[in-house]
Amino acid sequence: MAIPPPPALEHENPFAMLIADLRRQRSPEVPFPPGNLDFSIGRTLQFSENPLPILLDAYERHGPVFSLRVFHGIVVFMLGPAANHYMTVSHASNFIWRESHFRDLTALIGDGLLTTDGEFHRRSRLIMLPAFHRERIASTIGVMREEVERALEDFEVGGKIDLYFWTRRLALRIAMRALFGLDPDGERARQIDAAGLFEQALSFYSTPYPARLLRGPRTPWSRLVSAARRLNRMIYAEIKERRASGRRGEDIMSLLLDATDEQGAALSDSQIRDEVMTLLFAGHDTTTSTVTFLFYELARSPQALAALVAEQEQVLGGAAPRVQDLGGERLPELEMALEETLRKYPPAWIGPRRSVQSFEFQGVPVPAEAYVNYSSWASHHLPEVFPEPDRFLPRRFAPEAKAKLPKGAYIPFGGGSRTCIGMRFGQLEIRAIASAILSRFQLELADGFELSIRQMPTLSPRDGMPMIVRERARRSAAEPQLAR
Ligand code: HEM
Repeated sequence: MAIPPPPALEHENPFAMLIADLRRQRSPEVPFPPGNLDFSIGRTLQFSENPLPILLDAYERHGPVFSLRVFHGIVVFMLGPAANHYMTVSHASNFIWRESHFRDLTALIGDGLLTTDGEFHRRSRLIMLPAFHRERIASTIGVMREEVERALEDFEVGGKIDLYFWTRRLALRIAMRALFGLDPDGERARQIDAAGLFEQALSFYSTPYPARLLRGPRTPWSRLVSAARRLNRMIYAEIKERRASGRRGEDIMSLLLDATDEQGAALSDSQIRDEVMTLLFAGHDTTTSTVTFLFYELARSPQALAALVAEQEQVLGGAAPRVQDLGGERLPELEMALEETLRKYPPAWIGPRRSVQSFEFQGVPVPAEAYVNYSSWASHHLPEVFPEPDRFLPRRFAPEAKAKLPKGAYIPFGGGSRTCIGMRFGQLEIRAIASAILSRFQLELADGFELSIRQMPTLSPRDGMPMIVRERARRSAAEPQLAR
């Protein structure tokens, strides 16, 4: 018996949804939390360009739970350690993802883990978990290393590289091979430019809000749907071939084809497609951004870079890292720098939800069926939790300092029953890529580069990350001692 499907979306038509939102917020059973509730084009535009200052300002004025009207809709934000813990762990069942303001994503990734809730989500997660066990992830290091080596052939000392686009192609190739056993150079994958299609689909999220309501030819929506259709063709063809040939491997698609849950339910082709698309989506942009922002910060922080280079030399002595070197314990300087990168730039910067019942948080009521979001990006920038939040200070994550962080303070991978399922895979991949670059090269920012961040919907540099490749500097006696 198949797992019963998740509920249909409340409205497929965006205008019907808009009207339903307006009706609901006109007569809530309890008032919305305080905040900026007036309609403001300026705020709406600024929010889609750069939401962080608006969120931090509202937190400053109203506290950890506040409302903002963005375009037509009132959105509640809950920030800070206690709010994060409330939404992701202690009261998680009062929040659903599916009807959040990211519900349009279902047109691209369908009903996979990210966009479903409740029983459907729980059973799908149980089916997928074995694929993410530590040993299973460790076995992907060979593919990661091979792909990184191959990609590093593009690095030419003195030449320019766009680190963002370079990493994105690499991450997608790794995801295709390690997660799905798809050959990125095979006939089927070569017919489409998967990275380009994801860019095309997700550009929907970098268009102004009113444009996202439009349907029909040449709209951001039609670009999203047509990219999804082309990606679907590749995935369905692979599923069909695997079912017909019985070919299986160590990858997740093999596991999904044969999986049954505790009640003997198997996954249909469209469920497998949805999970594959979800993992491709969630698993390549996030790791790409993290690698990119790490090297952006290292290019601006000679001290942090020197500590990482020294560590690479001491621990690895120029050799390629083995899987046991990439667990996080053997390269603590790299680990702290990664944790700090994920603090400053958590790629999945927002946890979009909808409340089920009305509730009260720290004495402030919030209506039922309200859009309620947590935000790691804003929570990671609260000065009372992370002093001098705009500085890149990897030492914040030295073991004794990290142990003092309050519960819910640091949430780059979310929390509770929806904690990122790909966390270990992502961490291993980021460490493998970063370590390979650090052991051979030094990257400098191209002249005049100014970072501007977009949300698409993950955080990434708006104009890529042009960098100049230099030979790695040798360690000198003047460089810092490593933390052991
Ligand atoms: C640096 C890398 C990554 C970061 C920072 C990250 C972050 C996150 C966050 C914050 C969530 C929770 C979102 C929410 O609460 O709404 C999440 C969920 C998820 N992530 Fe990741 N992720 C990363 C890498 C990956 C990778 C590599 C994969 C797949 C191989 C992946 C697959 C998923 C999936 C399927 C979910 C939904 C889990 C569920 O709801 O049960 N992620 N991720």
